[in-house]
Amino acid sequence: MPSFPFTTALVTGASSGIGAEMARQLGRAGVPTVLVARRGDKLREIAEQFDGFSVLEADLGTAAGQDAVMEAVGNTEDPIDLVVNNAGFGTSGQFAELDADRLGDEVELNVKALTRISNAAARAMAARGSGYLLNVSSVASFQAAPGLAVYAATKAYVTSLTEALHEELRGTGVHVTALCPGLTKTEFQEHSNTTEYEATFPDFAWTSAESVAAAGLDGVAKNKTIVVPGALYKGLVVTSDITPRAFARRLSGLASSIRR
Ligand SMILES: NC(=O)c1ccc[n+]([C@@H]2O[C@H](COP(=O)([O-])OP(=O)(O)OC[C@H]3O[C@@H](n4cnc5c(N)ncnc54)[C@H](OP(=O)(O)O)[C@@H]3O)[C@@H](O)[C@H]2O)c1
Repeated sequence: MPSFPFTTALVTGASSGIGAEMARQLGRAGVPTVLVARRGDKLREIAEQFDGFSVLEADLGTAAGQDAVMEAVGNTEDPIDLVVNNAGFGTSGQFAELDADRLGDEVELNVKALTRISNAAARAMAARGSGYLLNVSSVASFQAAPGLAVYAATKAYVTSLTEALHEELRGTGVHVTALCPGLTKTEFQEHSNTTEYEATFPDFAWTSAESVAAAGLDGVAKNKTIVVPGALYKGLVVTSDITPRAFARRLSGLASSIRR
């Protein structure tokens, strides 16, 4: 069992998938953790298994939900050492045909909520001279993704913001890391309308929520800037870095039209 340098934690999107797995790994390591999501029943099921866990039911698509989490993160009497911005979703389909309100909700959660909570965390942690901020992005952040355009754009924002904060906070005692997973079997496929990916992509393309969560927690503990779990996705990210942008974009567009 890994031992972590964090003494307390807060994880958003802890009711399923990668966030729930991070919560369990923190619980097994004895780190008291605040679990955030909309489905309180799912959060309570996890919280009951570990000492010192608590539940904060919040809809991060609303200002009130974001404010509640920012207040918890900024509380100086009960400081939170590790903040994980993990809640997020995607929308698969042709941009022109998608519902504008749903896309707005996606930006609200993936970008605005993450930015406001990161701001509250960075402020509190910089004042204390210590802390850990882990933002869950995606390998989609390194490449425009026709067919998943808004999602990839929100994650490009997350990776860029996180890299900048890592540098701004260098030397302050605050660790900031972007976790960039590839395909991971969770409820994400159901919620982003990408369940067909399970038949399209071979088994070796899928990473587990367990290994992704472990890589993220280990990476932020070690103050890595970007963590890409799995050899396949590490290789793809390096390849996309050295592939001419126009060519990579065209390939991505072709891959998307084959899936349709
Ligand atoms: N799975 C993949 O292939 C993959 C790949 C790369 C990156 N990621 C990223 O990994 C992160 C976790 O996703 P996952 O794969 O674990 O998907 P998931 O199983 O669908 O989990 C998403 C979590 O976000 C929470 N959430 C969604 N909307 C919310 C809202 N408005 N307010 C509060 N919480 C909300 C959900 O909880 P409630 O529904 O209970 O609110 C759930 O706990 C996301 O940021 C995703 O973009 C996933």
